[in-house]
Amino acid sequence: RQNIYILGIESSCDDTSAAVLHNDEILSNVVASQKIHEQYGGVVPELASRAHQQNIVPVIDQAIKQANINKEQIDAIAFTRGPGLMGSLLVGTSFAKSLALALDVPLIDVNHMQAHILAHFIKEEGYDIPEFPFIAMTISGGHTQIVQVNSHFDMEVIGETIDDAVGEAFDKSAKILGLPYPGGPLIDKHAQQGNPKAFSFTKPRVDGLNFSFSGLKTAILYFIQKETKNDPDFIEKNLEDICASIQYTIINILIDKLKKASKETGIKRIAIGGGVSANSGIRAALKSGEHKFGWKTYIPKFEYTTDNAAMIAIVGYLKYLKKDFTDMSAIAQARIKI
Ligand code: KG4
Ligand code: ZN
Repeated sequence: RQNIYILGIESSCDDTSAAVLHNDEILSNVVASQKIHEQYGGVVPELASRAHQQNIVPVIDQAIKQANINKEQIDAIAFTRGPGLMGSLLVGTSFAKSLALALDVPLIDVNHMQAHILAHFIKEEGYDIPEFPFIAMTISGGHTQIVQVNSHFDMEVIGETIDDAVGEAFDKSAKILGLPYPGGPLIDKHAQQGNPKAFSFTKPRVDGLNFSFSGLKTAILYFIQKETKNDPDFIEKNLEDICASIQYTIINILIDKLKKASKETGIKRIAIGGGVSANSGIRAALKSGEHKFGWKTYIPKFEYTTDNAAMIAIVGYLKYLKKDFTDMSAIAQARIKI
């Protein structure tokens, strides 16, 4: 049995994270989330890169400490090369290179979107590892993709959003309702007490397996403007029902496309990832898909679902086994395909 230790570093958006993996098992996964963005109602890139600068050394130190290893035991360093915010990516990339030089170990570049999917390969009690091929849906504040996964590194995007990400749809709807950022978890919370069929919003018509969420946001805005004109307390009186109806609409959009993807590919194994997979409605809808459509569904442990370095480290491990290293000239890339 091999004894490989990988340090993973993630800094693509507003979370600074470092993780240590021993083969496919997580020894530590430290995440420093940046609170500073809350007051702006969204991530401010300049502030994000500054916060990464501040956090990266303590976060890595803590990850190594919690893993209970010496840094000399690290076999390779895996870092997020992209996609993401350039100023944020540069911090992780530069740091990873310097540390690889200092420790004289190989450097492994990781695609953040692949990592969200390969997070399912972290060994964790009570969680199954998907068999190939499977369909992965990555849903977060920054991404919305349906990917056909044929093997670890053979993936094809078969559908994606043409405008807003699904997490943005949640967050922007929440903002219209006067809820603080990020509003997704709050919509989820209120929705649990509401009637999902109280109000109906037209679903966007988008061809194939692609998504569009910007029209829905506008429909919700107009609806709220109209109703609050008649009754200024409309939101307050109906918050649970409004949240339940918004969540129901968004989940229907996601499940419709998954059904279509499963039908077109003939694949019944469905894995999800990204922050929105924490949503209780999507989890319930997937579970009911097991009975209704014969799906086998995979929902990762929450800490591997939002942005984290454990998912970067597992990709690092899988690439390490193939000796797929990168050289010191590797550069961060804001946009890269899977
Ligand atoms: O993966 P993530 O932490 O960061 C990236 O955007 O990459 O995802 C954050 C997104 C936010 O839009 C947040 O509102 C949403 O995930 N989110 C949720 C829930 N928990 C997080 N949306 C709906 N229901 C939830 N329970
Ligand atoms: Zn992400």
